Amino acid sequence: MIDVTKIRKDFPILKREVNGKPLVYLDNAATSQTPQQVIDVIVDYYSNYNANIHRGVHALSQEATDKYEQARIKIQKHFNAAKSYEVIFTSGTTHSINIVANGFSSLIKKGDEIIVSAMEHHSNIVPWQMLCERTGAILRVIPMNLDGELILSAYHELLSDKTKLIFCNHVSNALGTVNPIKEIIDAAHKVGAAVLIDGAQAAPHIKADVQALNADFYTVSAHKICGPTGAGVLYGKEEWLNKLPPYQGGGEMIAEVTFEKTTYADLPHKFEAGTPNICGGIAMGAGLDYMNAIGFDEIAAYEHELLEYATEELLAIDGLKIYGIAKEKTAVISFNVGEIHPYDIGSILDKLGVAVRTGHHCAQPIMDFYKIPGTVRASFSFYNTKEEVDVLVAAVKKAKSMLE
Ligand SMILES: Cc1ncc(COP(=O)(O)O)c(C=O)c1O
Repeated sequence: MIDVTKIRKDFPILKREVNGKPLVYLDNAATSQTPQQVIDVIVDYYSNYNANIHRGVHALSQEATDKYEQARIKIQKHFNAAKSYEVIFTSGTTHSINIVANGFSSLIKKGDEIIVSAMEHHSNIVPWQMLCERTGAILRVIPMNLDGELILSAYHELLSDKTKLIFCNHVSNALGTVNPIKEIIDAAHKVGAAVLIDGAQAAPHIKADVQALNADFYTVSAHKICGPTGAGVLYGKEEWLNKLPPYQGGGEMIAEVTFEKTTYADLPHKFEAGTPNICGGIAMGAGLDYMNAIGFDEIAAYEHELLEYATEELLAIDGLKIYGIAKEKTAVISFNVGEIHPYDIGSILDKLGVAVRTGHHCAQPIMDFYKIPGTVRASFSFYNTKEEVDVLVAAVKKAKSMLE
């Protein structure tokens, strides 16, 4: 059982007020808040051992290198990657996806097919469109139904010996749908295609096991799992990472450089050109430590309770419609009230101290599918409470009465 009162004390930001009201932070799908334990790790880094890694003989550099590599191993263990060098540090999911999309430029040819799901974040659509433009490959889309679930029978029909790559999120940021990625991966492998799973929205709620899933690539952003912005990882199977060329050239990613020829460093360094976000990587490990100490099963059970309670209370509001009612969902509720523009509701909620996101949530095709300009999205974390759900519901009622 989660002790939410105790947990909330770890998050300094939850004590603040916004517009004279206590902050009710329900924008966790955009970025999670940071516990003091992670803030302390960041302060410790810059106070005590800030130095460039992998190249110094001095004590600070070695300390920073050790901590950075320990974080890599922590992340490897968390996601059950077979090897620590299959974990590439990046600036986040967007960067991770672009490494793969660019790497495949030389492995994809005209007429090959690439499949994405209908409910992707723009960062898992645009890089593949750019890849198609470069190579002449064709982009196909797995459709979804009105409940916000992928239509798997259509997916199976799309697969053929032309299919080379599949991209799907584990959890949709706009709808909260948990996608059946194991089935998606297994079917793709039967036709010899590789699969990248965008785990940005799953990582805060689900402890993914990349070996059990048999994912070829899996991407994560630190700022969604109690870590800092500008850090994240790309997990890739060793065989794929060895096949892909590096994304960026520079220091640290080379074995030998002459003006005639450069040879690349081994994994993971081949994909880690330049000085990385050292503190970010270390703090990402600390964010995972913090969440693991609470326990992912406990987090999932508690968030599910919040989801059920908030769904019931919000649906009691006349004219409120929830988009995304998949059987498997994380604690994300996307909704509109009658014809009121989501931005107007979000602005009034902000005046009442409630932080939600409004708009297309970087998933315009989903909004086009529902023929709406956007939604109000309330996304919950393990540090939210039922009392905060009550504040949200009262605020939505007030906004409705003011705007209708
Ligand atoms: C499903 C999904 N994919 C990708 C991203 C992009 O992550 P980042 O901005 O951390 O690179 C996000 C961010 O919201 C997301 O929700």
